[in-house]
Amino acid sequence: MTIYNLGSINADLAYSVPHLPLPGETLAASEMIRGLGGKGANMSVAAARAAGRVVHIGAVGKEGGWAVERLMEYGVDTRHIATVDAATGHAIILVDGQGENSIVIHHGANHAIPEELLGRVLADADTGDILLMQNETLLQPEAARMARKLGLRVAYAAAPFEAEAALAVLDHTDILVLNAVEMAQLEEATGLDLPRMGVKTVIVTEGGDGCRIHLAENGWKPERFAAPKVNAVDTTGAGDTFTGYLIAGIDRGMPLKQAVDLATRAAAIMVTRRGTADVIPDLKDVQDARLG
Ligand code: RIB
Ligand code: NA
Repeated sequence: MTIYNLGSINADLAYSVPHLPLPGETLAASEMIRGLGGKGANMSVAAARAAGRVVHIGAVGKEGGWAVERLMEYGVDTRHIATVDAATGHAIILVDGQGENSIVIHHGANHAIPEELLGRVLADADTGDILLMQNETLLQPEAARMARKLGLRVAYAAAPFEAEAALAVLDHTDILVLNAVEMAQLEEATGLDLPRMGVKTVIVTEGGDGCRIHLAENGWKPERFAAPKVNAVDTTGAGDTFTGYLIAGIDRGMPLKQAVDLATRAAAIMVTRRGTADVIPDLKDVQDARLG
């Protein structure tokens, strides 16, 4: 099966700082990494690393060819990434001594993905393929509706959280992935608890504590998965790695628990590495890693 990922592509500029700057404060970074990022691109790379077949639907600016090349090198089908008349998206990432981050993104080309691309790409899709989306692009509602009509499963990572964006796709979502903070925000925004949101599979990530899955078929009773204890140097991209691995596992027909387990291990490795898409571990790394 194939994963169609409608997703952002960013140039990440990540700065290691002793603490996140206070208003008016000037800080020197001890290190700077430039790399490929964007929640969309990170998920595409993670899913491809996890042996998934991934078609990325997105856009870069004229100077963004390097990003497309990198995605291709990492095994992602890049034929449906448009080059548009806007700057490639970018992110300024600050990572503190504990591995926590603050991120500012500039959407640029990510908000200029041509709508006609959707129909053209999804026309090739088969029943049972997966459409994956996040909140760093536009067109999620259109894509979700189209995908559902074609018999695809819709997976949605509600990050970065925006209540309106989430509300617009919830009715068309089969698999929802979000962190505990986002889950609380979603419950507040909708005034609905999980059973009434209409999504059958919900995975809530809890950082170093692992994650919990809620399935309609099990009456929504949460099932918890602990994360291996690791020394966190940079949590950036760990959630995206989790989602990419998870969706690839599901797409490859793995039992959900096995996919969650693999995704948890991949995310744990990710927090021990500085950087985003360029350092996402491959399947062999994840399987061989000795984790606590
Ligand atoms: O989730 C991490 C990502 O958020 C970074 O790669 C950055 O580009 C922002 O989109
Ligand atoms: Na990282």
